[in-house]
Amino acid sequence: MDILLIGSGGREHALAWKLAKSKRVNKIYVAPGNGGTAKEKKCTNINITDIEELIKFAKGNNIDLTIVGPEEPLIKGIVNRFKEEELRIFGPAKDGAELEGSKSFSKDFMKKYGVKTAEYEVFYEENKVKEYLKTCKYPVVIKADGLAAGKGVVICESLEEGLETIDLFMVSDIFKGAGKKVVIEEFLKGVEASILSITDGHTIIPFLSAKDHKQIFDDNKGPNTGGMGVVCPNPYVTEEVLEDFRVNIMDKTLIGIREEGFDFKGIIFFGIMITEDGAKLLEYNVRMGDPETQSVLSLMETDLLELIEASIDERLNEMEVKWKDEVCLNVVMASRGYPATSETGYEINILDDVKDDVFIAGAKIDEDKLITSGGRVLSVIGRGKTIEEARENVYKNIEKVNFEGAYFRKDIGKAK
Ligand code: AMP
Ligand code: GLY
Repeated sequence: MDILLIGSGGREHALAWKLAKSKRVNKIYVAPGNGGTAKEKKCTNINITDIEELIKFAKGNNIDLTIVGPEEPLIKGIVNRFKEEELRIFGPAKDGAELEGSKSFSKDFMKKYGVKTAEYEVFYEENKVKEYLKTCKYPVVIKADGLAAGKGVVICESLEEGLETIDLFMVSDIFKGAGKKVVIEEFLKGVEASILSITDGHTIIPFLSAKDHKQIFDDNKGPNTGGMGVVCPNPYVTEEVLEDFRVNIMDKTLIGIREEGFDFKGIIFFGIMITEDGAKLLEYNVRMGDPETQSVLSLMETDLLELIEASIDERLNEMEVKWKDEVCLNVVMASRGYPATSETGYEINILDDVKDDVFIAGAKIDEDKLITSGGRVLSVIGRGKTIEEARENVYKNIEKVNFEGAYFRKDIGKAK
């Protein structure tokens, strides 16, 4: 099969690497890809991002299957457009993608189907939300309704901070429309977990749980980032938590997807908080996580292409996913200045014996050299029988990768 894979992050490098292992995959075009996919087996980057251009490419090059990495094209309706053209594609259509595209839509969905989540209210008017904030217990969580490049959630410690956040979101309109509507949510205390899963709209199969480390500094200090490293499986997701998640979150979500009649053949990612009162859903994403994917796919033994095809053909009930009985860590190396800004343009050196343990995110190929081009530059992988062994291996591997101004957390797999 010839595959078109859309996206350019570390997630897409991991997807390309995993798909390339499938005997049935002949060629993978990555649009637009990065310096990692440029060098991956069976892969070629193509510099296209526009949906109509991608359709032309898929038709002109007899693409058998398109796989969408990031949320943005899904929310724009890329799956609907491809299907109108009778092209085979993996991902949810526009209606289901709204579970990530709009926080109020997803909260209303959770409420309607009894999915366990934080209490919330939705507001469209600045005056009303400001009045409401005067009655809240703090901290309180304020969320911009639409996509805000990962910056649309603020945990406010006081009324003053809440009012300032509303001014930024609704009055200054810093997210160009995405913050004109807001969700005010109860603050949940606990440990977070990412549970990625695959669904065909009838069956849902959870993958191994993962734990992201969102803050930039050790001990979960400093500003939030896209994710600085992942341990998989998540050590806090016990059998008991998993059962609670299945009953109170996952199964109810599946009922909702069916009842709403979403055309959902894709990935659904549950961001949960494990609280004293059990597992509660923070959010849905309708794509794989980054950097969760780099760890999760490193442990997946099942052929990913087989799973994706079973989802599209509504045969997931016949599938079982096999995993390596190991722990996988990935530690993100970021460029100096991240997440506020980041320096770019430095050459990356990777020793040969760890080449297979590196997933590239923000780097490009320039005259056959790998050059940094983004904030999160790459992830280094380490596996082991225990977390301790995986930690030892990942930090040994990271010594063999370097570029000017490289920064990484030292406590991935250790921090709560
Ligand atoms: P979201 O995009 O909704 O996952 O929010 C991004 C991050 O904000 C989450 O990963 C949590 O760390 C935090 N967060 C979101 N909602 C809450 C909440 N209700 N209570 C505490 N933290 C939250
Ligand atoms: N790592 C979190 C996310 O992909 O949303």
